[in-house]
Amino acid sequence: MRFLLFSSLLCLTTLRVVQAQDVPKRQTSFKPGEVWLDTKGEVINAHGGGLLFDKGTYYWFGEKRGKSASEGVNVYSSKDLYNWKMEGLALAKSTDTTSEIATHGLMERPKVIYNPRTKQYVMWFHLELPGQGYKAARAGVAVSKNVTGPYTYVKSFRPNGHMSRDMTLFVDDDGSAYEIYSARENYDLRIVKLTDDYLSATSQDTLLFSDHREAPAVFKKDGKYFLITSGCTGWAPNRASLHVADSLFGPWQPLGDPMKGPMADKTFDGQSTYIQPVPGKKNAFIFIADRWNPKDLKDSRYLWLPISFDANQPVVQWTDAWKLDVWGK
Ligand code: GAL
Repeated sequence: MRFLLFSSLLCLTTLRVVQAQDVPKRQTSFKPGEVWLDTKGEVINAHGGGLLFDKGTYYWFGEKRGKSASEGVNVYSSKDLYNWKMEGLALAKSTDTTSEIATHGLMERPKVIYNPRTKQYVMWFHLELPGQGYKAARAGVAVSKNVTGPYTYVKSFRPNGHMSRDMTLFVDDDGSAYEIYSARENYDLRIVKLTDDYLSATSQDTLLFSDHREAPAVFKKDGKYFLITSGCTGWAPNRASLHVADSLFGPWQPLGDPMKGPMADKTFDGQSTYIQPVPGKKNAFIFIADRWNPKDLKDSRYLWLPISFDANQPVVQWTDAWKLDVWGK
């Protein structure tokens, strides 16, 4: 009897320990550069990503990475931007070895936008064809009726014949959508307007500047467009730069490096990927970057930092931890 009591007590204690480990703590702040767990306690695997705010929920799309492998596009959901639930693989690699999205190719920097005309979620990403390294330099497109997917691969192309590597999407207030992309072996940064269904490139395609920039992240404030980019040093960090324009098609004026704090000259050991406006808060934008770990890409960290404004000029100030109440409760 005593043994029974003892062993059930032991069982209960073990159960409590296991439960405590299984249920990760709810997160109430951003801790840039620290390991970020999803609501199940798994490390978030969504690199080079972008966010979509859709019907009161945020969705985070990003590259699912292995040690070096590109394993498709993961999607997470959140109501508060701190706690992310794994929703699964939004776009999987194809098992058909002749497919453009078969394994051994690359899917990088996925971004998803919603098209109200076609009622489709449209994903664009940087596609590299299997076995060709970074030679193909194409934009890939996939669609889904459900935000979390599964997305169906549609096609890939070079917009108006231009190489398309690092990229982002931007939807303007009038519903027009654009791809901003690195072209001509990354020497050129270009913009192309998408067709009304968001599935293709129109011929409205312009050179923004030829500064050898990539990792574009864009936002709009008070009628002005701001663009943060990185230099081109692969996975290694470098100095960010900020440009401003009154029109997406330019001219874009350089405003220098907006990063402030330790390692600001190396984007805090990171590389831009996206800028997320926070709905319901005035002038609230989150700068999102990747701190790549080329030895184990899935283990790369995320840097989320608030953008502040100094005489209307965006500043990204490093902070170890912060909350959305930097913009008021
Ligand atoms: C970076 C680029 C990443 C990835 C990497 C590969 O410059 O921003 O998305 O393509 O190069 O080396």
